[in-house]
Amino acid sequence: MARKHIEPFVDREVPFKKMTLPGFGKGMQYKMLSIDDDTGACTMTIKFNSGYKLPPGMSYTEYEMLIMSGSIKYGDQVCNAGYYLRVPPGVAMPEMTVPRGATAFLMYNFAEPSFVESDEDHKLAMRDQLTMVDSYDDIAWMPTTQTIYPAVAPGCLLKILKYDPLTEALSFLYCMTPKFWQDNISYHDCAEEAYHIWGTSWMMQFGDLPTGGYFWRPPWINHGAFRSELGILAFGRTDSKLHNY
Ligand SMILES: [Fe+2]
Repeated sequence: MARKHIEPFVDREVPFKKMTLPGFGKGMQYKMLSIDDDTGACTMTIKFNSGYKLPPGMSYTEYEMLIMSGSIKYGDQVCNAGYYLRVPPGVAMPEMTVPRGATAFLMYNFAEPSFVESDEDHKLAMRDQLTMVDSYDDIAWMPTTQTIYPAVAPGCLLKILKYDPLTEALSFLYCMTPKFWQDNISYHDCAEEAYHIWGTSWMMQFGDLPTGGYFWRPPWINHGAFRSELGILAFGRTDSKLHNY
């Protein structure tokens, strides 16, 4: 994941662009947050216009998506804000429809975005790795002491969405409670990425990160102290085991 250090970046400051890659059809717009120039793997904020449709189909790379507003239908299943999807490469999803519009945080993990119309999985697809979960309502917050060592200060809570047993990479929702603070500086040997769904937090090196704030932080970058006056809700992930030095 050779991406540049991008921090801080706020997607509210840039306009959406039309998605023109083949297969995605009309009515999908994106803001590019970070991209790996070698592989095309990327992270975007996405807006689906009302009436957007995508036929049944698959991608040649894994993607993860968190719906942030509106709702998306896959076949008969309605996915509202808070739904997290991890779709492995080659897994065919049912027809996608967005009757009243939606926004989402979307990551293509190992290659550039692709879409191939198909109502069958690719023969090498690992369907058992497909995740579709209402992360807001159906997963409980847990303290970081259960997953991260040394733990983050109390008041930062997690919901684990994806764990890769080979790399120990994690994708997770996290929150900071109002008046959260942590007064140490730390770094780690994994890359770290995060997006603020709501709220503002402050970091000594990079200042305030508001709603729509994003970073892609390579290994070994000092970060902290941290503070949040009113709290935040965010999505984060690492590319390998997170150890806070
Ligand atoms: Fe970190």
